Amino acid sequence: MRHSILMLSLAAVLAVTAGCKRDAAPADANQPTATATSATAAAAHMIDEHSYAEPDKVKVKDLALDLKVDFDRKVIDGSATLALDWIDQTATQLNLDTRDLTISKIVGERSDGKWEDLKYALAPADKVLGSKLTIETPKRNPRVRITYTTSPGASGLQWLTAAMTEGKKTPFMFSQSQQIHARSWVPLQDTPSVRFTYTAHVLTPKDAMVVMSAAFEPGADNSGNKRDGDYSFKMSNAIPSYLLAIGVGDLVFKPISNRSGIWAEPASVDRAANEFSDTEKMIQTAEKLYGPYRWERYDMLLLPPSFPYGGMENPRMTFLTPTAIVGDKSLVSLIAHELAHSWSGNLVTFSTAKDAWLNEGVTTYVEGRIDEELYGKDRADMERVIARNELKQEFSEENKALQVLAGKPGELKDPDDNLGSTVYAKGAWFMQFLEQRIGRADFDAFLRGYFDHFAFQSISSQQFADYAKANLLDKYPGKVTQAEFDEWLHEPGIPATAPQVTSARFDAVDAARKGFLDAGTLPAAAATKQWSTQEWVHFIEGMPETLKPEQLAALDAAYHFTGTPNGEIAQRWYPLAVRSGYTQANAEIAKFLERVGRRKLIMPTYKELVKTPAGLALAEETFAKAKPGYHPITTGSVESTIADAKAAEAKAAQPASK
Ligand code: BES
Ligand code: ZN
Repeated sequence: MRHSILMLSLAAVLAVTAGCKRDAAPADANQPTATATSATAAAAHMIDEHSYAEPDKVKVKDLALDLKVDFDRKVIDGSATLALDWIDQTATQLNLDTRDLTISKIVGERSDGKWEDLKYALAPADKVLGSKLTIETPKRNPRVRITYTTSPGASGLQWLTAAMTEGKKTPFMFSQSQQIHARSWVPLQDTPSVRFTYTAHVLTPKDAMVVMSAAFEPGADNSGNKRDGDYSFKMSNAIPSYLLAIGVGDLVFKPISNRSGIWAEPASVDRAANEFSDTEKMIQTAEKLYGPYRWERYDMLLLPPSFPYGGMENPRMTFLTPTAIVGDKSLVSLIAHELAHSWSGNLVTFSTAKDAWLNEGVTTYVEGRIDEELYGKDRADMERVIARNELKQEFSEENKALQVLAGKPGELKDPDDNLGSTVYAKGAWFMQFLEQRIGRADFDAFLRGYFDHFAFQSISSQQFADYAKANLLDKYPGKVTQAEFDEWLHEPGIPATAPQVTSARFDAVDAARKGFLDAGTLPAAAATKQWSTQEWVHFIEGMPETLKPEQLAALDAAYHFTGTPNGEIAQRWYPLAVRSGYTQANAEIAKFLERVGRRKLIMPTYKELVKTPAGLALAEETFAKAKPGYHPITTGSVESTIADAKAAEAKAAQPASK
């Protein structure tokens, strides 16, 4: 039954994409062929099923935003002026992506410099893609300006009242554009295959400070102390739409080095600056490996705990979850990861979400290299083991199509639903395989050359493969065969060529866990005193499906897992508690789910809760309280988890029909 629902929704997406992509390439064009030229293969791969834009006809090259942030109405009123590069001289329309936008006027610049009204039509909304905006442009205007208002429920924005912030004085608003949510706050070509520069002029209440994924206007006081409610920004490198970002709130700045620092609410800025004090060392490590950092500044914005992700690599301004601050820097590989995107992702970008591994897999590999350099191989190896164990859990017979790195057309319905283990862990594993076979020094040189070669371009897996053939396989003959390479890129599962990793520190954890399970012996305090987050995570993850409540109580008495301030530990402990019927943890579970909105941390607990009627009741009750503080992305995930569970319950209650 589940299967047929999945097939149905896939069919629906295919129908939608077929409708908007008249000139889409046939599905099998994704298969590399020896005869296809690199250019035609790349063009086929670049077709973005998740956008209504037609970048083969016209491309946005610059975006000028004029925005007014209205906290009372929870909307942005504004205009977007798109500078256009008309590739097809017979084109008469401009198709843009939008979601829940109210358009009030569209004008186009004429060749005489005057602006004229343009006719337009907004198509009915598709659930995943939003509404196609078609603008009649028979004269192919060099610039088009759209005046619009966002919706209070915009999927790419979260609005927090002052009461929901740390300082309780000023409301907060932030964007999360990846993967296809930029279209909910700016009408544009929302596909990573199009890159543009941008400027923004933003008006806010006077007590609010604004940051964006761009430079402040020249001469601006970027201390956060001078606030006048009128801010200007400029991004002069061409970026894809998913890197558009804005954050508004009671933000102050603390420098970490002369090119890096942290923006946060006043109550958190010192803690954040301490936890992330290695940032400059990380930048230098990445530069040593892969060449100069190309974005001038690397600043970070600390968001409220409702931020649905760990981090987001917005250029010049990484957005971060506060759950990464645990006091001992054990989770700062998050910074290494987002910083690494300054090369893999922001400099060289996937051209469609099908090739997400080009961003996330290469970045996870680079993150591991920075980790190794700064915190030692032990720590990087622990992270690798955790990620690969998760991959083994996530890969199943049912999701084989999503286990392929070079995704095929039609298989990824919602680009927010990429299989995490494929793009992160398998993608990184592929890089580790290549590094091991080629040798570290030569592989480092290859990656550095790759970043230079494709700098400020958006590419497909096929372009990566073509580049690797010339600069890796052919250049270092006898090390990696084309068949081995292609298996990694085009087959599901984990190739037998995958290099294995072991961790001595985890061996000690395994022994400690065994002692507890076999004889009830708690690991010696002298040992656990040295344990970092990773060891605790591994200790819990290796437990059987369920424990006896008294075993959980013994662990709690010794280590206080229930109520832990560490979200990575909570993410593993609470599902085990729920599965084991350890209801003593319920009150703290509810508090955790209300306090934190980061999807990765809370979804495993929701998913476990909904499996029993009592758990489902707790999940629903807790969600009802938490929802006003959740981000739209998290709300969507929790709602569908609860809805699926209820549908399954209703079905089970029906008498069997056949
Ligand atoms: N770019 C991602 C976040 C993302 C991916 C948002 C896909 C929307 C769609 C970011 O760099 C990321 O990977 N974040 C991780 C951090 C972790 C791997 C260290 C996260 O949020 O958990
Ligand atoms: Zn990432």
